Parts: sequence; C-alpha cells; structure tokens
Amino acid sequence: MSILPIVISGEPVLHRPAEPVTEFDAALRALVDDMYETCEAAPGVGLAAPQVGIGKRLFVWMYEDQDDAPARGVAINPTLWIAPLEPGLPGEDEVEGCLSFPGERFALRRASRALLRAQDIDGAPFEFETGGWFARIMQHEYDHLDGLLYVDRLQHPESRGAQKAERRNGWGKPGLSWLPGVDDLEG
Ligand code: NI
Repeated sequence: MSILPIVISGEPVLHRPAEPVTEFDAALRALVDDMYETCEAAPGVGLAAPQVGIGKRLFVWMYEDQDDAPARGVAINPTLWIAPLEPGLPGEDEVEGCLSFPGERFALRRASRALLRAQDIDGAPFEFETGGWFARIMQHEYDHLDGLLYVDRLQHPESRGAQKAERRNGWGKPGLSWLPGVDDLEG
C-alpha cells in the first residue's frame, strides 16, 4: 500500500467526467487500498479517484459519525439521488473543504438527504439513504466523478473568495499535486 499524490484544481482529470469501472480485479483492489491510505493520511472524510489522477467512477469514504453505512467504504459506479435544495444562503455550519483545493474552506448549501446506489469492491450492488454531514460527503464525492469541485457550486460572495484563493495559491493549471504526510497541507 502507498500514499498517492493528490492533484490540485487545474489538473484536467478533476474537471471532466470520469469513466465507469469495468474491471473488478486486483488492480482495482490495490487502487482502493491506496485511496484509503491516502484519505487517512490527508486526513480527509472522502477521496475520489480523479483526485489521485485516475479518471474512474469510484470514491472512498472514512466517516464514523453516522449509522447508515460502514465507517469506511468504497462506492464504485455510483448513482446519487438527492432531496431538493432548500432555498437561501448556506449557514455558517455548512462550510466545506476539498483535498484538491487544500487549506481553503467555503460555505455551500447541500441537500439534506441523499440515496446512494453503487457497487462494492466485488461488483455487488448496495445502497443506503443518509442525511446530515454524511449526505454532504456523498454529494461532494459524487460531484468529483462528474468533473465538479465544490468550489464550482459556490454562490457569490463565496465563489469570488474561491477564485481569489485559486489565484493566490497559483492553482488552476495542470501538474500541481501534494503528498499527504509529506507536504504540510490540509483539505
Ligand atoms: Ni473533494
């Protein structure tokens, strides 16, 4: 197992839809193991394959504070249904971050409920419905598979703050990454 470099906003794989997983083989298992290790080291509550430069439709989560799913898991070729967004601006407790936009946080409104259907590491289907912060994590990670970062969803004035942060950090171009446990960043 090894910790993988996490690519930063501007790397093309983060900004285009990922491809379905078709082979449930040893290479997939090794990738998922590395993603767990990378997510734990970051540390993060979720990590999608495009964030480690792999344009495939899978993500891992590591989040104990919910009863709807195992504390750690992988969603392969997922589909996500979400409740309608409630109108209004996000609250102060709705501040999100991303390992591919590291060290920055911005407020974003998310749906309060989500239903995830996906395949596990063996290709077997599973599903769960969840709410609260775990529903937010599912929405955030699922977006990565469609080439969306949470900063792409921000409303004014948060969107302006994210644009400034990207410029200040020198992101928004290909080839940038950081290595959890080596580089002193956090998402
Ligand atoms: Ni993210």
